[in-house]
Amino acid sequence: MTLSRRTLIGAGATAALSAVLPRRAYGAAKLRIGLLLPYSGTYAGLGNNITDGMKLAAAEHGGKLGGREVEFVPVDDESDPSKAPANVNKLVFGEKVDVLTGPVHSGVAMAMMQIVKSEKLLTIVTNAGAQAVTGALCVPHVFRTSFSNWQTSYPAADVMLKAGHKKAVLMFWNYAVGIESMAAFKEGYAKGGGTIVKEIAVPFPSAEFQANLSDIAALKPDAVFVFFAGAGAAKFVKDYADAGLRDRIPLYGSGFLTEGVLAAQGAAAEGIKTTLHYADSLDNPANRKFREAFKKATGRNADVYAVQGYDAVNALAQALDKVKGDTGALKELVAAMESVRMESPRGAFRFSKAHNPIQDIYLRQVKGGQEVVLGVAMKDADDPATGCKMPS
Ligand code: BEZ
Repeated sequence: MTLSRRTLIGAGATAALSAVLPRRAYGAAKLRIGLLLPYSGTYAGLGNNITDGMKLAAAEHGGKLGGREVEFVPVDDESDPSKAPANVNKLVFGEKVDVLTGPVHSGVAMAMMQIVKSEKLLTIVTNAGAQAVTGALCVPHVFRTSFSNWQTSYPAADVMLKAGHKKAVLMFWNYAVGIESMAAFKEGYAKGGGTIVKEIAVPFPSAEFQANLSDIAALKPDAVFVFFAGAGAAKFVKDYADAGLRDRIPLYGSGFLTEGVLAAQGAAAEGIKTTLHYADSLDNPANRKFREAFKKATGRNADVYAVQGYDAVNALAQALDKVKGDTGALKELVAAMESVRMESPRGAFRFSKAHNPIQDIYLRQVKGGQEVVLGVAMKDADDPATGCKMPS
């Protein structure tokens, strides 16, 4: 029997002993991919679509990556940062996964980084946009196939200013993603001469919006920019229309506002403009093939979350082929991940030096129940990766 490092020792001791113990044996063993994702609560739909995107990509590779049969090990992170250390320990030391993926929630991502950094396990962030993951806390073995909070919100400021909206109200869930998205938006908006009339922070995952919507009606800004996602976003957009604001004060957001919930929002979503690194209607061969296959496999429509999961497994497939499935060869595996080039459903995909995707950010508008692409809001958007000093 082969004993791996993680069988022998606990989290605290790994760093000290890693030099003397052999790396994990892999051989013909299954490739265990941990999924730290929400399967309950307001982000459950996001977790399910990331999972199904990953399963689709694995199936397209015949169920094997780098010659090893894939086994997915999901854990419900409940979008709860306080449970993140225990959940990561469960996957890394209990389940002994070879690769860690997830989460959706930026707070969970921040809370998992300490173990991830010390454990030196290839980790692919499949949603959470927390800046520090590929910024101040960046490390060679962490990659992101999603976005940074800056990427999805900074370009929206220019879009709103060009539309003549000079006075804005901001509304958002009050945790890392909301705070960082608004900071990015404000950076761009201030540069272009825009003024923020009011910032309304709502505790996560509250979906009680009415009182704040009355405030917005009274303030009469030129436009409103928001961050909400999942079930909360579905409710926000309907409440905004029910409050009579849809036709009076244009609503903008990062694209999470309508992703995966457009059908639930119905007519209330008509006209909303958002910025995101994906749109259902992107007319490229990879997207057409992906959307058809996802629909066939799940009976549901794909969205940005499914794309991020799909791309994580496709990137891993390229990298693992290069190292012949040896997840223990971390240095070589990291180099192989860095060299990944893909035609993703979102367009051309490559990682930046900080391991965040460099990608186009699309301007989308809901028209006739569809997400229509109006153009590219920012070409080759590259997160500033503030504070990232990648050790070589
Ligand atoms: C986040 O917490 O980073 C996040 C959650 C849902 C959608 C987008 C970002």
